[in-house]
This record gives sequence, C-alpha cells and structure tokens, in this order.
Amino acid sequence: MKTIFSGIQPSGTITLGNYIGAMSQFVDLQHDYNCYFCVVDQHAITVPQERLELRKNTKSLAAMYIASGLDPEKVTLFIQSEVPAHAQAGWMLQCVSYIGELERMTQFKDKSDGKEGVSAGLLTYPPLMAADILLYKTDLVPVGEDQKQHLELTRDLAERFNKKFNDIFTIPEVRIPKTGARIMSLQDPLKKMSKSDPNNKSFISMLDEPSQITKKIKSAVTDSEGIVKFDKENKPGVSNLLSIYSILSGKSISEIEEMYEGKGYGDFKSDLAEVVVNCIKPIQDRYNELMNSEELDRILDKGAEKANAEATRMLKKMENAMGLGRKRK
Ligand code: TYM
Repeated sequence: MKTIFSGIQPSGTITLGNYIGAMSQFVDLQHDYNCYFCVVDQHAITVPQERLELRKNTKSLAAMYIASGLDPEKVTLFIQSEVPAHAQAGWMLQCVSYIGELERMTQFKDKSDGKEGVSAGLLTYPPLMAADILLYKTDLVPVGEDQKQHLELTRDLAERFNKKFNDIFTIPEVRIPKTGARIMSLQDPLKKMSKSDPNNKSFISMLDEPSQITKKIKSAVTDSEGIVKFDKENKPGVSNLLSIYSILSGKSISEIEEMYEGKGYGDFKSDLAEVVVNCIKPIQDRYNELMNSEELDRILDKGAEKANAEATRMLKKMENAMGLGRKRK
C-alpha cells in the first residue's frame, strides 16, 4: 500500500476551505492508502500564539479530523510536537536548504511582508514541512493549491539529500483536487478563504452555527448580472459558490447551472446554505461528542506511538547518512 501524509495547522478555526481542499480528500483516500495525518502545532508557532488557545485549537483540530470522517482504526492521527523526530529531521533539512530558496516561498513573502519581528521559524518552515513528509516515506501528499510550492521544495530537498548523502528518501507527489483546491473568500473572491482573515464574514468556520452559515452565504459578494454561471474570470464570486455547491452536493457545475436557469441569486444562495449546513451539521455533532469524551486522547496516544516508531527509523537513517552521532547498527 502506498503512503499518504498531510498536515493542518491548529492556528485558529478550521474553515470550509480546509475541509474542501484537504480534509474531504483525506476521507476519500483513507481506504486505499496507508495514511498519516498530523496536527502541525510546531508550524503554528512560527507566528505568535497564545498558549491556552493553541492547546485548545490543537485538540479541536484533532477532533475535527475524526468528525469529518477519518477512521482512527485505519489512519494514524497524531500531534507533530509529540513526535520529536520532526523537529530533529527539520533541523537537518534546514542545513540542506539555501536561504535564497526559502526567501522565495510566496507564503513566507505574504506572511512577512511589511511585518516587524518576523521569526526565523517563518523562514525555515518549509524544511520542517519537508521533514514531516519525508520521515514517513510518503508517496502522495494531498493538499490545497497554496501548498504546491512547498511540495516542490520538499521534492528538491529530498533529491538533494539523496544525491549528496545517501539515497534514502522517497520523492513524494503532490495531489491537488480538480475542484475546490482554492476556495475563495466570501467577501473578496479574488482572495483565498483563510482563517486568519480579520473579516469573519469572509470565511465559514466548521464550527459556525447554521444561522451564521446562512447569513454569511447570503451576504457573499457576487455580481449584478443575476445569472448562475461558472466563469472564474468575470464572475469569481458566483463561480466560488458554484464550486462549493458542486463539491458538497456531488452535482456537476452544469447540472447546478441548469437548476437555477432563470432564477436569481436569492434561491441559489438559500439552497447553497442548506447544502453547506447539511454537510457541516453531522460533523459538528460528532465533533461535540469527541470533545466531551476520552476517546480522542486514546486515539492521539496510539497515533503518536505509531508515528514515533516509524519516524525514528527514518531519522536514524538520516543521522547515519549525514554522520551525526556514533555509528548505529
Ligand atoms: P494550512 O493549515 O494552511 O491548511 C491546511 C490544508 O487546507 C488547505 N487549504 C485550502 N484548500 C482550499 N481552499 C482554501 N481556501 C484553503 N485554505 C487552506 C491547504 O492547502 C492545506 O492542504 N503548510 C501546511 C501544513 C503542513 C503540511 C505538512 C501539509 C505542514 N506540514 C506536510 C502537508 C504535508 C499549511 O500551512 O496548511
């Protein structure tokens, strides 16, 4: 069986963008792959975090992974900081990375642009992400489009390491969904939907109340044409809503366009709100159950144990390849 690795940062609420671009893919893939899914809390501290808030978000994200349909019997779910090999391998891969290539990462540029006191961790984030992936001999990494550049760097680092030291890393492939790889903000459809957006109407949180979801969809920015048609360039708002509708309902875009022929945006938006609520509500129910039980801790303990065993094996290979420590059998 081939191996999958992916991670999500516990840096705030989980958005519908995270669900569509990442989690829902994971759920589909879990039956056919050996899967590792991670709450990457060490990535989250590249920007300031409040400690209790971070702990809460870490647990909440783990619960959300399971609530959205991951089977803990099938997949390995764990918290990054509970597997020390990630930080250790991340350091080794930092030493194989060039400052120039890290400075070229668009996520680094976006997050550091115009800011003072930018942490060194924000710059060296991609080699840590590469470590996450490479420790598990990962074949495939399902992510949204914004992570593509980090994946390219991961492949470069793996190839560089294999050539320079020893051929130990599998070169991972990226898997980006055909639709929904980039769910856009509801208020500015030219910007990615993001949990760090200060305008809370721009994103749907997986923990929003049904009434909030409906309100946010009804106030989503569209255009004055009144025609439900997919045209990313000229109708980015409507196209984004169509993508969400299509993914969550399983209907094709053209089927949905036909359903709303001759109707305005009002009907379209109310039905979309219903589709989104119907998808999110059962996830929230399972999430609340998990947050109030001890089941989640048991799942995460088991996940950390399994991930530690696997990651340590690769870490030793890396140390041997680079000549760190004493020779081991
Ligand atoms: P993060 O936490 O920003 O996002 C988690 C996942 O959600 C996807 N995503 C989206 N997809 C579609 N539309 C959106 N608006 C949207 N917003 C976010 C992201 O592409 C991602 O797949 N660096 C990663 C976390 C990470 C990781 C890894 C991922 C750390 N180590 C190893 C894969 C493998 C990040 O910041 O994702």
